[in-house]
Amino acid sequence: MAKKTIRDLDVLGKTVLIRVDFNVPMKDGVITDDNRIVQALPTIKLALEKGAKLVLFSHLGRVKTEEDKSSKSLAVVAKSLSEKLGQEVKFVPYTRGIELEEAVKALKEKEVLMFENTRFEDVDGKKESKNDSELGKYWASLGDVFVNDAFGTAHRAHASNAGIAANVDEVAAGLLLEKEIKFIGGAVDNPERPFVAILGGAKVGDKIGVIKNLLKKADKILIGGGMSYTFYKAMGLEIGTSICEDDKVELATELLKEANGKIELAVDIKVTKDFSNDGVIKVVDFDKIPSDEMGLDIGPKTLEKYTEILKTAKTVVWNGPVGVFEFSNFAQGTIGVCEALANLENVTTIIGGGDSAAAAIQLGFAEKFTHISTGGGASLEYLEGKALPGVEIVDEV
Ligand code: 3PG
Repeated sequence: MAKKTIRDLDVLGKTVLIRVDFNVPMKDGVITDDNRIVQALPTIKLALEKGAKLVLFSHLGRVKTEEDKSSKSLAVVAKSLSEKLGQEVKFVPYTRGIELEEAVKALKEKEVLMFENTRFEDVDGKKESKNDSELGKYWASLGDVFVNDAFGTAHRAHASNAGIAANVDEVAAGLLLEKEIKFIGGAVDNPERPFVAILGGAKVGDKIGVIKNLLKKADKILIGGGMSYTFYKAMGLEIGTSICEDDKVELATELLKEANGKIELAVDIKVTKDFSNDGVIKVVDFDKIPSDEMGLDIGPKTLEKYTEILKTAKTVVWNGPVGVFEFSNFAQGTIGVCEALANLENVTTIIGGGDSAAAAIQLGFAEKFTHISTGGGASLEYLEGKALPGVEIVDEV
């Protein structure tokens, strides 16, 4: 069954509550990656075209104390959104109260208001994060219609998504949430085959659920990054001083057995003595890691092999860098994977959020992929095959 979307709603003259995920990275009060704001624009623009009065809200970071509030205000995000939309976004620095209610009432068609970080409500008893029923009801009372477009927060059942949904008649998805469901949900549930997954990142522990689920769904899983070494150890190989989760070696053995050849590991590795960008670097075969060196990236033969496998795919999902790409000398594997994916034609290419999404955007490949997810934890849980509360709350058509 398909989900109801904002396209299905008549919002003319109505006050539309839109939960967005504007939890963007910031440094010294400056937004360092505005992708989540950019990705929310189609929904916001469509609602405005349809003549809605818009009330937007989001969390930003985690707010535990009064002091946390000063660095977690959404004011700067409202300003950025206003510039992108080319119209005023009225920012209300409260999460409830008479000022907010009056500002909402004063909204005219095609005007936008954004209120303060929903997690300011966490300082006094975690009301947002614990889905306090009064809070969800209160926020629901501010509008006529609820649209959830916060895929990044879809793995949470908080007052600003599940709480509101429980107190309104209709819940629709925004266009971003719709896109995430279509591509990530589609890849997991009904991929065009061959379906190849590339999984990287430091720890097997973080990806167990994803590997297990994708072993059932994908035709091949290409593994890179720090988690490879736990697999090599499970194969009885020397891994030198490479990162390894000793408590996951048994699990890695089971996964390899279960995979029955579906899992591919790097055939060559870039090694060095210390966790640093500046040491002497060698490329060695996967079974020849020196006992006093660590692997920090996949080697060129692996990249070639993975590229050939990717060329056979019709659907590809990538999650996690295949090397320590923060170090320029160990970024080639991740850049190479990005390039290989970017060069594929007639293939659905999906980047499952987090560091790999940031890498693809930083490297200038954003336009080359079918979909770059805005979810970190949410896309991982979706790839694990879990039902996400923020998706479940949306009505079916
Ligand atoms: C994210 O960045 O993954 C989402 O915005 C959710 O944030 P959270 O992990 O603080 O709930």
